[in-house]
Amino acid sequence: MNAVEIEEAISLLAEQDFDPGEFPYAFLEAFGNKSTTIKRLRTGNNNKSDLDGGVLQHNNIHMSVCDGGKVTETLKELKKSPTTAKAKAKFILATDGKEFQAEDLSSGETIACDYPDFHDHFGFFLPLAGISTVKQIRENAFDIKATSRLNKLYIELLKHNPEWATSERHHDMNHFLARLIFCFFAEDTDIFGGDTLFTTTVQQMSASDASDTHEIIGEIFRAMDIKQAERSDENVKNWANKFPYVNGDLFSESTETPVFTKIARSYLIHVGNLDWKKINPDIFGSMIQAVADDDERGALGMHYTSVPNILKVLNPLFLDDLRSQLNEAGDNARKLLNLKKRISHIRVFDPACGSGNFLVIAYKELRKIEHEINERRGETDRLTEITITNFRGIELRDFSAEVARLALIIAEYQCNIVYRGKESALAEFLPLNAQNWITQGNALKIDWLSICPPTGTDVKLYENDLFSTLKHQAEMDFKNEGGETYICGNPPYLGSTWQSKEQKADLKAIFDKLTKTWKSLDYVAGWFMKAAEYGKHTNADSAFVSTNSICQGQQVPILWPLIFKTGHQISFAHTSFKWANLASYNAGVTVVLVGISNQVGKVRRLFSITEKGGTIEKKVDYINAYLVSGQGIIVNKMASPPDDRAVMLWGNKPTDGGNLLMNFEEARSLQANPKAKEFIRPFLGAEEYINGKQRFCLWIPDKKLEDARTIPEISQRLTAVTEMRGKSPKKPTKEAAKVPHSFVELRQNGEEKIIVIPGISSENREYLPCGVLERGTILSNKNYALYDAPLWNMALIASRLHWVWIGTVCVRLEMRFSYSNTLGWNTFPVPQLTTKNKEDLTRCAEEILIARERHFPSTIADLYNPDKMPEDLRHAHERNDEVLERIFIGRRFKNDTERLEKLFDLYTKMTAKGNVA
Ligand SMILES: C[S@@+](CC[C@H](N)C(=O)[O-])C[C@H]1O[C@@H](n2cnc3c(N)ncnc32)[C@H](O)[C@@H]1O
Repeated sequence: MNAVEIEEAISLLAEQDFDPGEFPYAFLEAFGNKSTTIKRLRTGNNNKSDLDGGVLQHNNIHMSVCDGGKVTETLKELKKSPTTAKAKAKFILATDGKEFQAEDLSSGETIACDYPDFHDHFGFFLPLAGISTVKQIRENAFDIKATSRLNKLYIELLKHNPEWATSERHHDMNHFLARLIFCFFAEDTDIFGGDTLFTTTVQQMSASDASDTHEIIGEIFRAMDIKQAERSDENVKNWANKFPYVNGDLFSESTETPVFTKIARSYLIHVGNLDWKKINPDIFGSMIQAVADDDERGALGMHYTSVPNILKVLNPLFLDDLRSQLNEAGDNARKLLNLKKRISHIRVFDPACGSGNFLVIAYKELRKIEHEINERRGETDRLTEITITNFRGIELRDFSAEVARLALIIAEYQCNIVYRGKESALAEFLPLNAQNWITQGNALKIDWLSICPPTGTDVKLYENDLFSTLKHQAEMDFKNEGGETYICGNPPYLGSTWQSKEQKADLKAIFDKLTKTWKSLDYVAGWFMKAAEYGKHTNADSAFVSTNSICQGQQVPILWPLIFKTGHQISFAHTSFKWANLASYNAGVTVVLVGISNQVGKVRRLFSITEKGGTIEKKVDYINAYLVSGQGIIVNKMASPPDDRAVMLWGNKPTDGGNLLMNFEEARSLQANPKAKEFIRPFLGAEEYINGKQRFCLWIPDKKLEDARTIPEISQRLTAVTEMRGKSPKKPTKEAAKVPHSFVELRQNGEEKIIVIPGISSENREYLPCGVLERGTILSNKNYALYDAPLWNMALIASRLHWVWIGTVCVRLEMRFSYSNTLGWNTFPVPQLTTKNKEDLTRCAEEILIARERHFPSTIADLYNPDKMPEDLRHAHERNDEVLERIFIGRRFKNDTERLEKLFDLYTKMTAKGNVA
């Protein structure tokens, strides 16, 4: 169950009469427990509670329904109960049907409320459903509630107005919903004067069978588009006359409204009865945008991006600078005034703004600073000089764009209430500003200069229409004469294999003229490039959340030289971290934050997450495209190592339709024929190597082919290979049909000693799990190999230095390491090794292998499980690191950052010598 579904279930439970015997089970059911689980608790089999009326669910909750007036006492007993600790309960809960109290045992947070209100706290209990919420959601359950109710209304309306679900009417439906949201907010915040004016009017004026609800709503909408003075001429109905003139084109266009059913009418009244004063524009916007999206409705409420995460982008981009200027200004009236002017000319532009959460947070933070200035200058009654039209966005989805506009309007009103008081906020609110500042469209197609023209240029087109955008051509100027522009956001990441045809075309249009290798770029790269191009025309700093893949491996040499060429550098960055959204629903993608600027100051800020989860900041001279401190070096593939290290190749590719390969049983059965034995070899892919699984293959030297064919099963297998290869459209495979006994890609003769490196391996291991295979093993193409190489090569691969290098310069699949010989091994910078160094390293590699032997038959996966790595093996690796790092710098490195900095430094020197292929 997702948070929205849980909210619905909990609200339903709170509305029902209290049933002491049933409550605990109904409560658990509302949090998604299966009926079988509840049955087992009910029968007592799984209920280990030692309290009368108690229900204890292991690892979750211990609750008790008690006699009237005994709630506090019962909660204490639950806390004291040894079974609570034994069952590792996360929560305790006591209620008598009148009072309701609970405690989160891990945080110590408590709630106490009247029983009928407990549903308002459902966010507190979300961990019961495995949903780890951020604090904002826990404390603002309203936004989930509102989303949930609107979602029900939306679905009900579409069911009875199917034509409104068609793509032609999509915008109308979205617009209708935006109008409703506005009305709900306005009626609860006195914007409409009377309390709940909209909901009450609909309830009183429309027939209870809902037959004319759409007409009543339509008339209210019509009234709000007509100035008071013109209303009598327009025959506005008396009861609709109470509604103010809203303008902003929110209520222009058609006032046609979908037809309501009785259920839809009751849903509408239900939503209207919520207290919309509690809305959080940033949270609500993120949730509600899923309502209008068929693909996302299932994940309703799950796209919330936490404020701290948004601030990770906005603070270093410009807010920190403003705050430090505020500090510096102290009480100096002139300096404060200058800062205020500066702020009023700042424009913030999010070209993938979704529901506008980055813009809303930026707006609120700027208002906070402005208010502080006004306080220090003794001018708290001053009107704000920050206009919401300076917070601009582009958003592809129609409804999200509508919500973004509303969210900013609401944020402005709420800030006015806080900083200027209700009276003044109300006086300034209506009519709405008619300018359009959120453009619905494709940000990679729209010219950003038309959305944010360079300071001082003429207005190209003044769009006098807040809610009906002229697609692809919104062009207007800002109040930012002499001001600054900050571009920010969280654009869609999308790796090349996930991009649609249209998205690929967007990238082509941007990159084709710049490079021929753009096809492997992530979609998000388009935003970086457009931002860098934009910065060529007007001063602007940009920062985006992005997948870490644009700062790793093959994308780096494609994208970053193009960005650097525009005169931009990386001004700040945050290295990889999990961008966790609400809930375990989205375990969080791994992202980086990258800020670019063409006027970078002397100091760049490099943020990273510590092992304990805190953030550390390092001030550095440069940040390179791998987000490492150091000059703007790019690591390019090299055809071979630049020194006497061994050449690394792939394993062998059979392309055999599985006919040359055998599992254990098949190999054993074939071996029953003694003549077959010599043709069976162990065959190792990454999975077999890491997890100690067994697979075998037929390995038939040319000169033995005739002998092998005399064995019927082998002969059948070879015939099958011939057939399979013969049908292939690929020429080399077709050719290889003539030699079915041989792998199509062959890189060994079968008698070598192999140093093996899995192609893909988990980032959780502290070392790359390379190893040595005995002669006779055949390696699959899922592994890399050094054939008959001196063992000191393995010591390099097994080192922490190599781990850090590969994790940075090679491609990552999610976070997993994807090894590359050309990009990772050949480029690995190693100081000139003496004979003595090689002897020492050989001994280190032997020690690692011996340590592994001691734990036979543990697999590589067992041995390198970071929590269970045997001490002697860890020690052998540390010894290896010690020896190698002394060769590098005469001592151990302090940490991975220092390792990387040294590696990039050496790489720069190595490439300067012309050692790049
Ligand atoms: C990851 S979301 C971020 C939205 C918002 N900042 C948030 O945190 O929820 C990316 C947004 O980009 C929008 N988008 C996708 N492709 C786009 C395009 N080509 N032009 C403009 N917006 C786009 C999506 O609809 C989505 O709202």
